[in-house]
Amino acid sequence: MTIDPVKSIPAFYAGQSVFLTGATGFLGKVFIEKVLRSCPDVREIFLLMRPKKGLNINERLEQMLNLPLFDKLRNEQPSNFKKLVPIFGDVTEKGLGLSAADRQMLIERVSIIIHGAASVRFNDTLKYAIFVNIRATRDICILAQSLKNVKALIYISTVFAHVNKSLIEEKAYAPIADWQKMIKMAESLDEHTLNIFTAKCLDYAPNTYIFSKNLAESVIQNYSSSLPCAIVRPPIVTSSIEEPMPGWIDNVYGPIGLSIGTGKGVIRVAYCNKHVTENAVPVDFITNAIIVVSWNLGLTSFTASSTPYVLNCTIEKNMTYQSATKMLLSVTNEVPFEGIVWTPNIILTDNFTLFYILTMLLHILPAILIDLVLKFFGRRPMLVRLMRKLYVANRAVSYFSFHEWKYSNTNMLSLISLIQPDDRDKLFLLDYSDYDIKSYMINGAIGAKKYLFHEDMNRLDAAKAHKNRIHLFVTTVKIFISIAVLWTLYKWAYSNTL
Ligand SMILES: NC(=O)c1ccc[n+]([C@@H]2O[C@H](COP(=O)([O-])OP(=O)(O)OC[C@H]3O[C@@H](n4cnc5c(N)ncnc54)[C@H](OP(=O)(O)O)[C@@H]3O)[C@@H](O)[C@H]2O)c1
Repeated sequence: MTIDPVKSIPAFYAGQSVFLTGATGFLGKVFIEKVLRSCPDVREIFLLMRPKKGLNINERLEQMLNLPLFDKLRNEQPSNFKKLVPIFGDVTEKGLGLSAADRQMLIERVSIIIHGAASVRFNDTLKYAIFVNIRATRDICILAQSLKNVKALIYISTVFAHVNKSLIEEKAYAPIADWQKMIKMAESLDEHTLNIFTAKCLDYAPNTYIFSKNLAESVIQNYSSSLPCAIVRPPIVTSSIEEPMPGWIDNVYGPIGLSIGTGKGVIRVAYCNKHVTENAVPVDFITNAIIVVSWNLGLTSFTASSTPYVLNCTIEKNMTYQSATKMLLSVTNEVPFEGIVWTPNIILTDNFTLFYILTMLLHILPAILIDLVLKFFGRRPMLVRLMRKLYVANRAVSYFSFHEWKYSNTNMLSLISLIQPDDRDKLFLLDYSDYDIKSYMINGAIGAKKYLFHEDMNRLDAAKAHKNRIHLFVTTVKIFISIAVLWTLYKWAYSNTL
C-alpha cells in the first residue's frame, strides 16, 4: 500500500464532508471539536442525531456547542460551527432512520464516515444490542457503498471485542456467531424468545455489548472487500490529557463512575483483582487516532481484496488496579470533591463473599441509615437505590478487572511513523509515552470537579476543610465503634468467667 506523502492531515481533510454517528457521545463531541479546530478547511460534518429529553436535534446541537469543551474553538474559529449539519436518524431503526432526502444528500457529499454510535450498556437485551450495534453497522456499510466518493469508513469498536483471545492483534478475527443470522433472528423473533438465546450467546462473550461489538467487527470485515474500512479499538476511554483542555470529561460509565464514587467517599469496596492491569487511555488520544486513520485510509490506494485496517488504541503505560487506586486516593486528598460523605478509601477484594459482606456493612447499612434520616426530614430517600445501582455496575465491570489481555500495537507504531513531523508533534499526538500519570490524574480530578459537578476551583480550600472535618468525624466514629466492640467483648468475657 502506498500513501501520498505530500498531504498533511489538515490538507487531506480540506474539502471533505464527514458523516459522524455518535456525535452527542463522549468520543463524538471531542472528535467534532478537534476536526473543526485542527482541520479548519473541512467542508462540513453531518451529525446523525436523535431527539432526546424533549429537545429536537437542532436544540440538542445548540446545547452541546455551549459546553466548555467548545470554548477554545468558540474563541479561535467561531465561524466553523456553521459546518455542523445535524441529520435526523436513529440507529435502532432499519436504514438508520434516515429520510430519503437526507440519504441522498449524504450519498452526494460525504467522503468520510465515522461510525461511533452504539449502546454501551452491558445489560441491553440481545434484540436491542443487535439492532443498535450490529444492524446499524451493516446499514452504515450499505450507505457507504452508495456514496459517490467514499474515501474512508471508520468503525469505532473496542479492544474488548475479542475477550476469548489472550493476545489481541491488530487484525480482524473470525466472529463468534453469524451476524446475518443474528439480525434475521432479532427481526423475526419476539423479545421473550430472543432472551432465551441470550444465554447461548453469552457462552462466548461476557455481555450483550461485547457480543454485539464482536459481530459488528465482522460486518466491517465482510464489507471491507468493497470499501476502504478501518476498525479502531479503544480500551477504557478516560478524560482528555491535553485537548482541547486537560481533564475534559462528561462520561461517568464503568471505571470512571467507580473512581468518582470512591472520591466522593460513597464507594468503599470494589470487587476486582487488584493485580490486574487496567487499560485506560485519554479521549483525545482516541480522537487523534480516528483522524489519523481516516487520513491514512483516504490516501492509500484501495485494493478490492483488502481486509480492514485495524488499530488497537492501547498505550504501554498502565497500572494495576491496586496502584491506580493508591494514586487515586492520593489525588483525592490533594484535590478533594466538594461535599464528600466519608473519607475516601476503598477495599479491593477478589473474594466474592467478602465483597458481599463488606457491601452490606459499608454500603447498604449506612445507606439505609442515611435514607431513614432523609425520610425523617421529609426528603426523598435515594442512597439505597444508588448503592444497588453501584453494586450492579461493579458486578458488570468486574469481568474486565479479573482478566488481562496483551495487545499488539505494530500498526499504531507504523502509523505514527507515517505522520508528517509537524502534524505528529503538534497537532495529532499519538505518542504519550513520556506523560506523567500523576499529573494526568490530578487534571482528571479537576476536570471531574469542573465539568461533571460544576464545582468552582476557587472553593478548593473549602472542599479541603470539609474533607478534614469528615476525616475527624470518621476517626471519632471509628474510635467509638472500637471502644463499643472492646467493651462488649470485655463484658462478655467477664460474664463468662463468673
Ligand atoms: N467510552 C469508552 O470507554 C469506550 C471504550 C471502548 C469503545 N468505545 C466505543 O466508542 C464509541 C463511542 O462511545 P462513547 O463513549 O462516546 O459512548 P456514549 O457517550 O455513550 O455515546 C454513544 C453515542 O451513540 C449514540 N446513540 C446511541 N443510541 C443511538 C440511537 N438509537 N440512535 C442514534 N444515536 C444513538 C448516542 O446518542 P444519544 O446522545 O442520542 O444517546 C451517543 O451519541 C462506541 O462505539 C463505543 O462502543 C467507547
